[in-house]
Order: sequence, then structure tokens, then C-alpha cells
Amino acid sequence: MCGIVGYVGHRPALDVVLGGLRRMEYRGYDSAGVAVLDGAGALTVERKAGRLANLEARLDEVGRGHFGGTAGMGHTRWATHGAPVDRNSHPHRDASQRVAVVHNGIIENFAALRAELEADGVEMASDTDTETAAHLVARAYTEGDTKGDLTASVAAVCRRLEGAFTLVVTHADHPDTIVAARRSSPLVVGVGEGEHFVASDVAAFIEHTREAVELGQDQLVVITREGYEVLDFHGDAAQAKPFTVDWDLSAAEKGGHEYFMLKEIEEQPEALANTLRGHFESGRIILDEQRISDQDLRDVDKVFVVACGSAYHSGLVAKYAIEHWTRLPVEVELASEFRYRDPVLDRDTLVVAVSQSGETADTLEAVRHAREQKARVLAVCNTNGAQIPRESDAVLYTHAGPEIGVASTKAFLAQIAANYLVGLALAQARGTKYPDEVAREYAELEAMPAAVQKVLSTVEQVRDLGRRIADSKAILFLGRHVGFPVALEGALKLKELAYMHAEGFAAGELKHGPIALIEEGLPVVVVMPSPKGRAVLHSKLVSNISEIQARGARTIVIAEEGDETVRPFADELIEVPAVPTLLQPLVSTVPLQVLAAEIARARGYDVDKPRNLAKSVTVE
Ligand code: G6P
Repeated sequence: MCGIVGYVGHRPALDVVLGGLRRMEYRGYDSAGVAVLDGAGALTVERKAGRLANLEARLDEVGRGHFGGTAGMGHTRWATHGAPVDRNSHPHRDASQRVAVVHNGIIENFAALRAELEADGVEMASDTDTETAAHLVARAYTEGDTKGDLTASVAAVCRRLEGAFTLVVTHADHPDTIVAARRSSPLVVGVGEGEHFVASDVAAFIEHTREAVELGQDQLVVITREGYEVLDFHGDAAQAKPFTVDWDLSAAEKGGHEYFMLKEIEEQPEALANTLRGHFESGRIILDEQRISDQDLRDVDKVFVVACGSAYHSGLVAKYAIEHWTRLPVEVELASEFRYRDPVLDRDTLVVAVSQSGETADTLEAVRHAREQKARVLAVCNTNGAQIPRESDAVLYTHAGPEIGVASTKAFLAQIAANYLVGLALAQARGTKYPDEVAREYAELEAMPAAVQKVLSTVEQVRDLGRRIADSKAILFLGRHVGFPVALEGALKLKELAYMHAEGFAAGELKHGPIALIEEGLPVVVVMPSPKGRAVLHSKLVSNISEIQARGARTIVIAEEGDETVRPFADELIEVPAVPTLLQPLVSTVPLQVLAAEIARARGYDVDKPRNLAKSVTVE
């Protein structure tokens, strides 16, 4: 939520910053802005509502020549305080226009700070919380102990701010320095040769360097051409963790695809294989950073999965497997609800926090709440060193690679696989599965990348279908057992991308309400279980399909190859390979992703950047 990039080096800063913003745009695209320091005391700012393309057009209009200089910063916004209009776009400046600030997060005490500044005669130029930080830094820089010291001024302001924030600050008096700070919101430093970067995500500078430093909570960094210095908010030297990014620029590029999402759908077999790799050694399931002992795992008497969006759906899928394998009760809960409901937690509760980004505010707060209640927290995360894994007792990384399309695809499949590994690790520790059974389940998981590859080779038919039903008013999704969360995920994808009314239902609930929605020609997607795996479920679903078909629905059925019983009830039949029941979501979700993307394309929407959404939701 909001992408930030800052640069000090030897290249034209405007180019570097715009390049970074292009890769950060997935974080928000309500507006964009840049500030460049020219080295001779000028700080030039341009901001524009709408996509980054609008800002670029504006820069062409005013002439990019005005933005000479090798230090600068940029921002791409997902609006929280104030409408997405030019004057609320970042960077924000103080009255003297010497200080510029970009910000991600929410300054929770901004109303009090704003009132204090206004009482002091400061006139606000925007409706944002961010602008207060610009005025406060300017004031700290001109008076008191911090006078003339930009770093100390920023630190002093950070000490006063409440909430979550990443701030990047420049001052016209310091054309070779950028100061950045973070609390509960991401910030990484890129370390190059004679150049340094700060950004919300390594993608912003991956083109220039893979050497990065991850800042800790309440840390501040000062970057110059020559180096970087990490401090705490009291100005004392602090330690941050260096790391090397293990993917390269090609992973953050579209590679010939029209949209990142389409590329990411195709990358799913690899994402699954990479997530599983290395987690079964010498006959045992191994997690990544495990700071929970085997004894603690044995003592677990209840599991919660907490997450948001697609990650939540991955938890709903995993519930079936974890309960089946471990005989432990598993509750799956939306992170935003979990925290405020006083859930029953103690030291024998395992909370699995699933998050692609590792920075989703609702999930992070759920993790904090769980730890306060002494529960053990295991994070399933796709982003190395993000805040959620940092605050958890153990981590299992999904190695899906960077996911840039706002709607989750490859991360979702990788989350299911990782959640299953957690289930197997628990079954192994608790002895509810013999080692050979764990090995067999793992082998079945290992066969999934090939099965997903097979699905991908047959999706042309789904694309064609997507184009044919693109002008539908609504689409319903039905499933049972693990097919139910798949139906929810299919509906979510369609809402997100095609702005179409879509609902997922447990097929058994149909007769308790949703069947009233069925009308002539309404497309209904039905996720069929295998006829071999759960014969009872299969026959129940066949009845459900015939009920809706009899009422005029246009049935789109996702079924196992060779499932002849369902054919007469399917107006459109999409076949997926036969796999064990618990693994079916890994194959049956793929056509639903493709369907949503194709409908969105046919309706003329930007598949990677759906309206009103952002990939990383760092506010509650
Ligand atoms: C946003 C994204 C979703 C994602 C959810 C949770 O809403 O648009 O695609 O599933 O956040 O994100 P996380 O990073 O915690 O998995």
C-alpha cells in the first residue's frame, strides 16, 4: 500500500526513481509523484493524480530537463487520508518548500499533530496525514537541539508519530542525503557501487543491485552516494540485516506477457516446486526458521489459520488436510475479525499466519495479538524478512517469487502447498501419521507441479469461454468440501478483476437461499470433486447441478478428466487432471484464475491493477 523509492548516486535520479516506481505501482496507483535534488539547493517536485503514466505525461509537459540531479525520491499512492487528487499526492512539502516527504502507512495521531501545527500558524496544503510530517521535520530542523541536523530532526519527528509508517525525507540543504525511517511498514536499503537506494520493496532497485539491507522496527537509515548508516529513533547506531536478493530482474518483468498476472498464472508449477523443495529431507518434513520446538508442536491442541483475501482461502483449503492428518481442531479466520473477537488462545495454540507480502496490517495485528496471548505463531510468507515472519516464532517461506499482479495467483497455490507442509510437520511431530504416510503425502504434493502444468496447457478453452460470458451480470460459484474454498477464490478473482458480481457458495447451501438467485442464462461455475475420491460428495453435487440446470442456469463444470457422469449436466465442461481429493484445489483453481483474467480483459480492464485495490494492504 503506497510504493516508495529514494536514490542517491551517480545516475540521473529521475530515471532511477521512475524505474523504481514502475515496479512499485502494484502497491497503489491512485497518484504518483517525484522529488529531485539538483545539488545546487533546488528541490523540484511534480505530482499527479492517477496512474504513473499521468505523472510521466506531466513530466514531459514541464520538461524532464528541470529534474536534473542524482538524488531524489518517488511515491505511488493508495489513498487513505484525502481523495486521490493532485494536491493530496506525495511528495508533501513544508511551507518553505525545502523539505519533502513521502510516506506509506497511517499516522494515527495526525489530527492532534495537525491541530498543533495549525495553532502554530501552519497552513495545510492537503488533506493528508503525511503533510504533518513534512512540517514537523521542517520545524525540528529550524529550532531546538535538532537545528540544522536533518537526521536528528527526522528521528525526533518519528518519536512523536503514532501508527505505522515508512517515511522518506529530503531537504534542499542536503542534496546528497536521503533519510528514511520505518515502523511496522516495509523499508529496504539497496546497496550499490557509489549509489544507494531505499524502497518499499527490493523490486524497485533490483535492476541496479541485488545487495539489500532489511531495516528493523523503529529504525532510520541515512543514505548517501558512499554508504548508509542505520540508527534507532534516538539517534544511536543500530543493526540491520543485510541479504542478497535471490531473484533477478527477469522475475519482476512481464517477459513478453501482456500482464504480470498472466505470467504469474503460468509460473505456478515452478512456484509450487520451489515451495516444496528442500522441505523433505531424510524422511522428515522440515520447516524454515523454526523457533518452535518439537515438544511444543506435540503439545499443540488447536490450530488457527489467520489471513486475508486469497491467503484466507488458502487456509480454508488447508483446514481439511490439517484436521484429517493431525486430528487437531483447525479454525480459519479472517485476520481482521480474529483480533477483535477475543479468541481463546494459550501456549498450546498454534496460529498459522498466512501472508504473501508479510506486511498485511490486519494479519500483522492478529499475529501480535496471538503472541500477547502466548500462542505460538508460524508465518507462511512469500517475502523474505517481512514484518510478519520477523514477529513470528517460526516461518515457512513460499518461494513463489515476486508476485506483482494485484490479484494473487501463484502465491495462493504456493500458500496451499506450504499450509499442507505445516499440516504434515504437525502430523509428524504428533505421530498421527507414520513416517511412510508422511512420505507418501509429500510425494503426492511433489507430483502437483506437473498436474498444474497440464491444466495450463488446456486453458485456451477457458479463455474462449471467458470471452463468451464476459457480458454476464453476475456469476455464481459452487463447491463442496475443498471445492468450497475454491469456489470462494474463483468468485473473489472475478470480483477483483472484472468488477462483476460474483459469489461463492457451499453447494449444499444452495437450497437454503442462493438457489433463489438462479435465473435463465445465469452462469454458475461448479467445482466437482473426483468421482473416485469422494463418491458421496460427487453424487450430491451432480444433484445440485441438475437442480440449477432445471432452473435455467448455464452450468460451467470443472471436473476430473473422464468424469462421464457429469457431462450431461455441463453446458460447458472444463477438465482437470485426476489428483487426490485434498490436492484438487491446486488444479481446479487455475481455470478460475484464467476465467477471471479473460473476462476482465474482454471488458477492457487492467488485469494487474484493478480499481480501488492494492496488493499490499498495510493499513487496517
Ligand atoms: C490484498 C490482495 C490479495 C491478497 C490479500 C492478502 O487484498 O489484493 O490478493 O490475497 O491482500 O495479502 P497477503 O500479502 O497478506 O497475502
